[in-house]
Amino acid sequence: MKHLLKMLDLSSEEIFEILNLADQLKYELKHNIPHPYLKGKALGLIFQKASTRTRVSFETGMYQLGGHALFLSADDLQIGRGEPVQDTARVLSRYLDGIMIRTFEQKEVEDLAEYGSIPIINGLTDFSHPCQVLADLMTIREFKNSFDDLKMCFIGDGNNMANSLIVGALKVGMSVSIACPDGYRPDAQILEFVKEYGDKFSMTDKPLEAAKDADVLITDVWSSMGMEEEIEKRKIAFKGYQINDEVMAQAKPDAMVLHCLPAHREEEITARVFEAHANEIFEEAENRLHAQKAVMVKLMK
Ligand code: CP
Ligand code: NVA
Repeated sequence: MKHLLKMLDLSSEEIFEILNLADQLKYELKHNIPHPYLKGKALGLIFQKASTRTRVSFETGMYQLGGHALFLSADDLQIGRGEPVQDTARVLSRYLDGIMIRTFEQKEVEDLAEYGSIPIINGLTDFSHPCQVLADLMTIREFKNSFDDLKMCFIGDGNNMANSLIVGALKVGMSVSIACPDGYRPDAQILEFVKEYGDKFSMTDKPLEAAKDADVLITDVWSSMGMEEEIEKRKIAFKGYQINDEVMAQAKPDAMVLHCLPAHREEEITARVFEAHANEIFEEAENRLHAQKAVMVKLMK
C-alpha cells in the first residue's frame, strides 16, 4: 500500500490491517502508552474545502505519532494561482514525508500520487472519502464486534460517502442496501464494482425498503461541499430520504446510526434519531483520529 486514494484500491486484507492497527493505537492512547512511530516525519495538509474533523484529527494524530503536520490552505499556495499539481507534487515530495489533500476532483489526488514520490492520502474528493469510511468501519466493528451477517443501509445522496461506504462495507463482508433518488445514484465505477457481489448489494428509491432489517443505518448531507448552489433543488429531490422513526422501525431493534458530520437536523436525519444515537456518531468522529493514525503509520513509517 503506497497511497490512500480511494476504497476501490484497498484489498480486504489491507482494510483489516488498518482497522487492527487503529484499534491498537486507540488502546495505546487511552492507556498513555507512547507511540512515536513517525518521529521526525512531516505531513502536509492541503485543503481546498472547509474542514473541522479532518484537519484537527490529522494535525493532532501526527503530533501524537511524534511527527509534524503543516496546514496548507489552497488559497495561500501557488496551486490556488494555477501552479500545476504535477509541479507542486514534485516540489513538496522534496520537503515532506506525506501529503493529505482535500479537493474537488479525484483526478487531482491521483495526479499528486503519480507525479510525487511520497504517500498521498485522500482527505475527501467529490468521488470518495476513504478516511471517513475507515473510521466508520472501525466504529461498526467496535459496537457490533464483527462484520459477519451485518447489513449496512445508506439513505440519501449517492455521493463521496455512499461511493466509499458501499465499497468498504462489501469488502469487509457486510451486505449493503442503498436508497437514493433517481439522478443521485452512486458513481458508475461503483455500480460496476458491486456487480461481483451479486445480491449482497441492492439499490432502490424507497428508504423504508432499504432499511428493512438493517444493522447499521447511515446518511449524509443532501448538498455536499461545492454543491451549495443546488440546495433548493436538492431539498425537493431528497424529501423523504431521511433517517427518522419510521425508517428506524424497519431496521433491527439494536440497529446503530452513523453520520460523518456535519449533520443537518430535520433534513437527512431527525434531531430525535440523531440524539438517540449520539454516542455512536461521536465515537465515529473520534475514530477518525485513530483510523488516520493507522493509515499514516502504514504509509509513512
Ligand atoms: N466528516 C468530515 O470529513 O468532517 P470535516 O469536513 O469537518 O473534516
Ligand atoms: N458529502 C459531504 C461529506 C462531508 C464530510 C461533502 O462532501 O460535503
